[in-house]
Amino acid sequence: MEKFVINGGKQIKGEVKISGAKNAAVAILPAVLLADSPCVIENLPDISDVALILNVMHTLGARVRLINKSTVEIDPRHANSFIVTKEMAEGMRASSYFLGALLGRMNRARVAPPGGCNFGVRPIDQHIKGFEALGAKITFENGLVDGKASELRGASVYLDVVSVGATINIMLAAVKAKGLTVIENAAREPHIVDLANFLNSMGANIMGAGTSVIKIRGVDSLQGTSYSIIPDQIEAGTYMAAVVGATGDLLVNNVTPKHLESIIAKLREMGAEITEYDEAVRVVMKGRPRKCNVKTMPHPGFPTDMQPQIATVLAIAEGTSIVTEGVWDNRFRYVDQLTVMGADVQVDGKMAVITGVEKLSGSPVKAVDLRAGAAMIIAGIIADGVTEVEDIDHIDRGYENIVEKFSAIGVDIKRVPIIDTTPVLKQA
Ligand code: EPU
Repeated sequence: MEKFVINGGKQIKGEVKISGAKNAAVAILPAVLLADSPCVIENLPDISDVALILNVMHTLGARVRLINKSTVEIDPRHANSFIVTKEMAEGMRASSYFLGALLGRMNRARVAPPGGCNFGVRPIDQHIKGFEALGAKITFENGLVDGKASELRGASVYLDVVSVGATINIMLAAVKAKGLTVIENAAREPHIVDLANFLNSMGANIMGAGTSVIKIRGVDSLQGTSYSIIPDQIEAGTYMAAVVGATGDLLVNNVTPKHLESIIAKLREMGAEITEYDEAVRVVMKGRPRKCNVKTMPHPGFPTDMQPQIATVLAIAEGTSIVTEGVWDNRFRYVDQLTVMGADVQVDGKMAVITGVEKLSGSPVKAVDLRAGAAMIIAGIIADGVTEVEDIDHIDRGYENIVEKFSAIGVDIKRVPIIDTTPVLKQA
């Protein structure tokens, strides 16, 4: 086991290169199963969630060949299993995408549901409603979700909640179904558009991705393609927020500024000077951040996956800020860790009232989930003294080379082994 040790109080200066988007990668990789020939996927982030998915693809029978750290060739032709067991999906939140991809490929899927996550249950009722509308029969057997269909037929599906996962899964199942599928109240995140672009580059006929109505006209077959994944808006936002907390001057390279609009708007309100270039943004921050209210919402609203990071910076802002979580039921569990570091945060249901303090002080804390873990790193960077972050496997799920990237821009952060100091009982 390992932990991060951060010696806080340093300014951030230099350049960072953002990796491919995790939430696009975990949808695009299973989508390769829909092709009749090999695909090359580029700009893959080197994170444990991607490694897990590639393992699942291999176990299903696909041939997976790493070309380099961020490029993989996948030949799905021999994938003949439709079962993703609990053991295969262990630790993976996006296992449900194998349901849509396998149903789309072979009208059959048996997949472990996504693990309950640290900020609430992860229902898939809207995914199931979509599959059933397309003609699949869904049952639960021995803890696995089982789907079968004699054939999938296009249908209209209205989502009761704007769900990224349901939108993606219905697209995957519908892309080779007979006729037209219409998803209404669809999610509009950049990774939805990326998946649609990927599928269209294989020969799919998807229109409207990025709007709330997506139309998918089923095609008979999809051909392999070469595709480069979009940059990760949340990884970019995490580094940008860190500068606003720590002060400094950072050029964030390999981003799509349009995907960062809501994050840029809030960081500007907090006092950052942000310049947008074609594929980069520069963040300059002097002095203490100003208070600001933030409400998370589906895209193009402020992303829930940036909520813990921005709340952490607001913990040292001048004045009182209100952060409202509009997507998940329970995404404030990390606040207990922040208060240990001296933050003044009162949580009432989906709302946190954050009264800025001048300084946080370093302390041992835990990463309670992926983005909460990123927030603890930011807290460590802006705090005085030493912060130790444990349970960092959550962070490794979604951030490539986070220690190397932060170290290169002036942060004093190290990954160190946790030495077990429990006394060993002598054998009789
Ligand atoms: N929901 C339902 N029924 C469903 C599906 C969702 O009620 O069938 C509810 C959820 O409980 C939640 C809301 O709808 O309250 C939105 O959930 P959504 O389905 O959009 O979330 P997801 O697809 O499970 C993805 C990201 C999350 C991100 C959310 C919201 C991936 C792999 N995960 O999850 O990312 O928080 O969208 O943007 O794309 C992360 O990267 O740290 C992360 C958690």
